[in-house]
Amino acid sequence: MSHLFEHNGAKGQGYSQPAPVLPASEITLPSGLIRKALPRWPRLSEPEMVRHYTWLSKRNFGIDTGFYPLGSCTMKHNPRVNEVIAQIPGIADIHPHQPEHHLQGLLSIFHEMQYMLEVCAGMDQVTLQPVAGAQGEFTAVRCIQEYFRLRGEVQRTKVIVPDSAHGTNPASAAMCGFEIVEIPSRTDGRIDLDALRAVADDTIAVMMITNPNTLGLFEEDILEASSIVHGVGGQMYYDGANFNAILGITSPGLMGFDAVHFNLHKTFSQPHGGGGPGSGPIGVKEHLAQFLPGPLVGKRAAAGDELDAAVDENWYHWYQPTHSIGKVQQWHGNAGAIIRCWAYYRRYGRGLRTMSEHAVLNANYLRHAIHKATKEAGVDSLVVDGAEAKVAKHEFTLSLAPAKEAHGISAMDVAKGLLDMGYMAPTVYFPLVVPECMMVEPTETESKDTLDTFATHFAEVLQVDAETLHAAPVTTPVRRVDEVYAARNLCLRHPYDEE
Ligand SMILES: Cc1ncc(COP(=O)(O)O)c(C=O)c1O
Repeated sequence: MSHLFEHNGAKGQGYSQPAPVLPASEITLPSGLIRKALPRWPRLSEPEMVRHYTWLSKRNFGIDTGFYPLGSCTMKHNPRVNEVIAQIPGIADIHPHQPEHHLQGLLSIFHEMQYMLEVCAGMDQVTLQPVAGAQGEFTAVRCIQEYFRLRGEVQRTKVIVPDSAHGTNPASAAMCGFEIVEIPSRTDGRIDLDALRAVADDTIAVMMITNPNTLGLFEEDILEASSIVHGVGGQMYYDGANFNAILGITSPGLMGFDAVHFNLHKTFSQPHGGGGPGSGPIGVKEHLAQFLPGPLVGKRAAAGDELDAAVDENWYHWYQPTHSIGKVQQWHGNAGAIIRCWAYYRRYGRGLRTMSEHAVLNANYLRHAIHKATKEAGVDSLVVDGAEAKVAKHEFTLSLAPAKEAHGISAMDVAKGLLDMGYMAPTVYFPLVVPECMMVEPTETESKDTLDTFATHFAEVLQVDAETLHAAPVTTPVRRVDEVYAARNLCLRHPYDEE
């Protein structure tokens, strides 16, 4: 037996529970909660358990096993030193319910993180509480909603999103009860200012947009867009999923935004995948700070008598913003993710700008390498850029529409073919505005050699015949799934119980 799913449910191995303290006759449970039969839990010995998890880990593809150019998800190397620091007992074993004087070290890290993110975003106050980008979006939009409610501007019931926006933007706004107003992009993929002007009025609460946008293009008209929205009294929200392109170069604050989220699990190298674990702190301008979820970490100004002054000046404490919308998580959210991010930024320091520059350089290098390799292989007519741009930012889009038309090869087929080549496939069919879209984001941590090899393999996949590609992948533990069926008929349990 190499894994749990092959286990025959044999009894008598593995961990034994201590006998209950109370005799069974003294335990009264509602009859509906009492088991009719013993559960068929596999009972594994330690070596079997180790084999099971090792077997599972080998079925997985991760950034540690291969190149992972998943556009918009920024899957970058997770430095191991971050793990070491996150596991220091003085950090890992502490609990926020301990008294403040036990927590000074941890609070000083959170305080520094708040400040560092404020500087990067050009914002006045950061909360570390949300645990995903999407939760950050929801939290910030709720703060803005509360801001308008206190001002009596309750007629602001709409949120503008461009048609290239990530799905979480309209979803977060809708969860707050806003009506979504989608505006079309220009043919070059950028924001259409005329379309924005046409919908901008005093019913608009927020415009949500990411820059560079989801096509990897910098929105050059962003200042004008901000002034249109501010002109009608609305607020600008920056979706920070694409921060990897601009860190230390520009900031949402400089672009006229009022609120922003970070994805620490993308830009700042916290491991992620499969929906978590994440961290999505938000930053806001001064006028929104009082609405943030609490507690925040503050640093007390000097107070008290002379003897206490030195201590007071460096005393970190929790505090509640005055008109807080309430909590979206406990305390500071996902502490482990924040510590890893802190370790990462401490190591880079001002070099964070170089990180973004290399991310942009790698994306542009790979884009050219793919075009060169497909040309040399004589298949360049099958793939075109998803958007016209001399320079992309940290990611770029390709369109496989010509391959589909010529040979019936879809973006999905190419993605599956790449799995057989040993890669994680780039993001497909997002953004929706690009037909047969493939979105590629190599990140700054990949070598020239990796990028060149991927480009060559990409061209090789385009030379494979359609029938073979329709059947791909053939080397992965799970072959091609019917994604619609899988999404509608979720099966999250091994059928072991039903045997
Ligand atoms: C552009 C964009 N916005 C928002 C999000 C949501 O972030 P999270 O997955 O952390 O909730 C993503 C996630 O991939 C994204 O790519």
